[in-house]
Amino acid sequence: MAILVCGGAGYIGSHTVKELVNTYEVIVLDNLTTGFEQLIDPKAAFVKGDLGDPAILDDIFTTHDIDAVFHFAANSLVGESVENPLKYYRNNVGATLVLLDKMIEHGVKRFIFSSTAATYGIPDTDMITEKTKTNPINPYGRSKLMIEQILADLANVHDFQYVVLRYFNAAGAHESGEIGESHDPESHLIPIVLQHLLGQRDKISVFGTDYETADGTCVRDYIHVTDLARAHILSYEGMAGGKIANKTYNLGNGAGYSVKEIIETCQQISGKEAVVDYAAKRAGDPAALVASSDKISEELGWKPAFNLNDIISSAWAWHSN
Ligand code: UFG
Repeated sequence: MAILVCGGAGYIGSHTVKELVNTYEVIVLDNLTTGFEQLIDPKAAFVKGDLGDPAILDDIFTTHDIDAVFHFAANSLVGESVENPLKYYRNNVGATLVLLDKMIEHGVKRFIFSSTAATYGIPDTDMITEKTKTNPINPYGRSKLMIEQILADLANVHDFQYVVLRYFNAAGAHESGEIGESHDPESHLIPIVLQHLLGQRDKISVFGTDYETADGTCVRDYIHVTDLARAHILSYEGMAGGKIANKTYNLGNGAGYSVKEIIETCQQISGKEAVVDYAAKRAGDPAALVASSDKISEELGWKPAFNLNDIISSAWAWHSN
């Protein structure tokens, strides 16, 4: 029995592969448009290609005994999705439909889906649970919610099970120091701050200072990428063991930190001083997004092992190398 990881060369995918290869045979499918081949653990088999390519999927599903698909492959930048919605609907929805079609055809019945806090839009609560109304405000969030809805429809009529994992802000690097957060171009707060503190950027821009938060900057729930990786494996094993099926779970730490607090913690951990520019708001940023992850904790025993200091320390160690 093997696991197919679509997008296993990306940030969260590669960290999950690194945990999975300890126990499972893993095949990574990635077209390397945003991923990096050197992030893929050498114990995994690698197929370079598109998940929207039916011939590649036929080949993988006939040559390997695949028990589950972990689907990380997606475009995930909110701003870009507003500028280029068709790219998001084509890659995040269209290509995923090809994958699902081929799974059904080949009788592959377990699916773990990377979803996002962006499905909630601007929530009317301080603590987001899975019961909080979804109302995405950009094409990225809508593309993910569409797949969530399609999964529920499939599970109604096919021998098919899924778990949807709605990530809040993934951050940090693997404890081995071998892999970490890498995007090109980089747009995420923690890597940008650390790159600046390493002298690779002139300054940091804080996007907005008059949000309705304690210090006026946006509040997010940062979750270590290894905690996310472990949630995928628990979800898979929960499904394979018959304990759960067709579930949606939030994944966060349950604590919010402002942009200013992140910069402060990065300065403390690095021992370096940042140059900060207070800039205009970035389009589409909700003021605060904090997750309750009680549901996955109660149903699968998942608990985050890493706090904000661990997250930033691991990221600092990786970026410094
Ligand atoms: N920010 C800055 N300066 C920067 C970069 C970011 O002030 O140079 C701020 C942003 O405005 C935001 C916070 O830092 O308030 C976090 O920004 P990130 O870009 O790191 O993360 P986001 O919260 O925008 O995005 C994350 C995921 C998305 C997902 C989204 C859900 O990366 O994939 O959460 O809301 F859609």
